[in-house]
Amino acid sequence: MRKPIIAGNWKMNKLAADGARFVLDFRSHLPMGDKVDVVVCPPYPHLPLVVEAARDYPMDIGAQNMHFEDSGAFTGEVSPEMLKDLLVEYVILGHSERREHFQESDELINKKLKAAFDHQMTPIVCVGESLEQRVQNQAYDFVESQVKAAFDGVSAEQAKVAVVAYEPIWAIGTGKTASSDDANDMCAHIRNVLKDLYDESVSEAVRIQYGGSVKPANIDELLAKSDIDGALVGGASLEKDSFLKLLEAGANA
Ligand code: 13P
Repeated sequence: MRKPIIAGNWKMNKLAADGARFVLDFRSHLPMGDKVDVVVCPPYPHLPLVVEAARDYPMDIGAQNMHFEDSGAFTGEVSPEMLKDLLVEYVILGHSERREHFQESDELINKKLKAAFDHQMTPIVCVGESLEQRVQNQAYDFVESQVKAAFDGVSAEQAKVAVVAYEPIWAIGTGKTASSDDANDMCAHIRNVLKDLYDESVSEAVRIQYGGSVKPANIDELLAKSDIDGALVGGASLEKDSFLKLLEAGANA
């Protein structure tokens, strides 16, 4: 039985003090902490305050991206070592917004994934097809190629602790959610790809989230599915009430 994991991706929203206040406000409502893993991923500048606000409460903090090198002449970048130093436990990698707006390649994401493991951070690796690819029946092959590229050269021991987020691009921020059956079919496909790459002990251990317009009204149905182990949430993670409802759904799944 895989433990559900609900992660809030704040994207480029909130100011640091608002983010810390948000966590301070909802942290005492977390009795479900042992039944669901709770992760909050604020923008970089908020990390120290948000980590402090979450300290001693059952939630982890994640970054939304990182470079793969520890240090060097990479203006504007943030290294795994810097995140680890701030007690950041998770890192979102290969989000479609980074792939699309910042030209992140599969090869780059693979390097970042390895760097996350090298620094004992848990990667949340995002994959997902465009609407065009879905319409043209290329979604399964495309997502498979993204998973294979991301995990290239990653050991079974490392792969086991990874989180994969299936986020169809056409469902992100659009209000359109994949049907729970379609979402589950793709998550099951991802699990099969991992089984082929490694073995069943790995594919059964990896947690696979669905992301794309997840909200209190649709999360129960998604989490009831066999291969969906949680959610990566944008918009609905920004409001305390809706985020708490998502966490409760995770605890009850
Ligand atoms: P929304 O929940 O706003 O659709 O965003 C999904 C997402 O991209 C999470 O990473």
